[in-house]
Amino acid sequence: TWDSVPLAPPDSIFKLTATYKSDTFPQKVNLGVGAYRDDDNKPWVLPVVKKVNEILLNDPAVDHEYLPITGLPEYTAAAAKLILGADSPAIKEERVVSVQTISGTGANHLGALFLSRFYQWDGPKQVYLSDPTWINHFAIFRNVGIEPLTYPYYDPKTIGLDYTGFIGSLESATPRSVFLIHACAHNPTGVDPTKDQWKKIADVVLEKKHYVFFDSAYQGFASGDLDNDAWAVRYFVERGVPLLICQSFAKNAGLYGERVGALHVVPPSKDAANRIKSQLSVLQRSEISNPPAYGARLVSLILNDPALFEEWKRDIRTMAGRIIDMRKELHELLTEKFKTPGNWDHIINQIGMFSFTGISTDQSLALTEKAHIYLTTNGRISMAGLNSHNVHYFAENLDKVVRG
Ligand code: LMR
Repeated sequence: TWDSVPLAPPDSIFKLTATYKSDTFPQKVNLGVGAYRDDDNKPWVLPVVKKVNEILLNDPAVDHEYLPITGLPEYTAAAAKLILGADSPAIKEERVVSVQTISGTGANHLGALFLSRFYQWDGPKQVYLSDPTWINHFAIFRNVGIEPLTYPYYDPKTIGLDYTGFIGSLESATPRSVFLIHACAHNPTGVDPTKDQWKKIADVVLEKKHYVFFDSAYQGFASGDLDNDAWAVRYFVERGVPLLICQSFAKNAGLYGERVGALHVVPPSKDAANRIKSQLSVLQRSEISNPPAYGARLVSLILNDPALFEEWKRDIRTMAGRIIDMRKELHELLTEKFKTPGNWDHIINQIGMFSFTGISTDQSLALTEKAHIYLTTNGRISMAGLNSHNVHYFAENLDKVVRG
C-alpha cells in the first residue's frame, strides 16, 4: 500500500494559473506565471515562429528519427554563440561543451547533477542561491543531493540590490563555493547588478576561486537586446571565471511547451571539454536518452538564418517594448493619478518580465481575494500580464491595498 506517501502541496506558481483559469470574475488578472501575453491578454506566437513552423512542416527532409544524445548539433552550436558571442574566445578554443536540455529547468537539473557527481567538493555539497530566487531552484538542487544555501541579493529597504550583502557573501564563503547567479532580468526581483558591480563581483569570484552557475532564462527580455543581456556572461568568460550556463528559449522565443534549452559548460581546455561532454552524454542517456527534436529545429532555423534571426530580434523588441510601456503606465498611474503612498520608481527601474512590487504577503493575498488579481505571495508581478485594458484596474486595487 501507499499509506506512507504524504500528500504534497501543489506547485505555487502553476496553482495560480489553474485558480485564475477557473475564476469566472470578468475583470480577473493573472500576474502569476512568467509567460508573455499580448495587449489582449492572449499567448503570443511570435511571427518568426509561425514562419519557421511553416518551413518545417513543408520540409520533406524532416523525419522523426532520434537526435544525438547531446542534441541537434546545429542548434547547440548556434545557442552557444547566442549566449557567448559569435567571436567568443572559448568557442574559438573549442572548450565550450553544449548539450541540448529540456528547457532551462532541464539545463539546471543536468548542470546540478553534473556538479553533484564531478565537482571537486572540498566540503559538503552546497550551492548558494540568491535570496530570493526562482522557487524551483531549491528543489532542483535538493533532488541531486546538493544543499541550497542563500546569499543576500535583494534589499527590501531600497527595493534594489543588496550589493554589499552579495559581495560580503562571496567574500566570506569558503573558497571554490558554487554560486548560482541570474545572468539577466533576475527572477523574481527584476533587479540586476550594474556593469561596475558585475566587474567587482567577477573580481571576488576569481579571488575566491568560486564556481559560477549562470541561469539565463530571459536573454533579450531585460533590454530588448540579445547581446546586451549576455554582457555579464561574456564578461565572466573573458575574465576566465570557471562557469556553466543554463539557457532557455521558453520566454524569448515564446516556446514554453516545446522545452528548448541548453547547458553550456566552459572549462579551461579542449581536453577537459571532451571529458566533460562524454560524462554529460552518459548522464543524459540515463535520464532522457535523446532530447526532443521539434523545438530545437525551430530555434536552429531562426538562429542559423540571418534574415530570420533579424525577424526574431524584432519580435523580442516587441515583447520587451510592451513590457517597458506597461512599467511606465503603471508607474504614472500610481504616482500621478492615484498618488499612492510610497516611492514607486522601482517599477520603472527594474527590468525583465517581473517586478517586485515591495508589497507584503498580506497585501498580495488581499489583491487576490478582493480583486481577483493573481500574483505570487512574495509581491512579484509578471509585467507581461498587464495590458492597456487592465493596468488601470490593477493600479487602482494596488493603491487600495497599500492604503490598507
Ligand atoms: C516563473 O517563474 O513564473 C516562470 O519561470 C515559470 C516557472 O517555471 O516557474
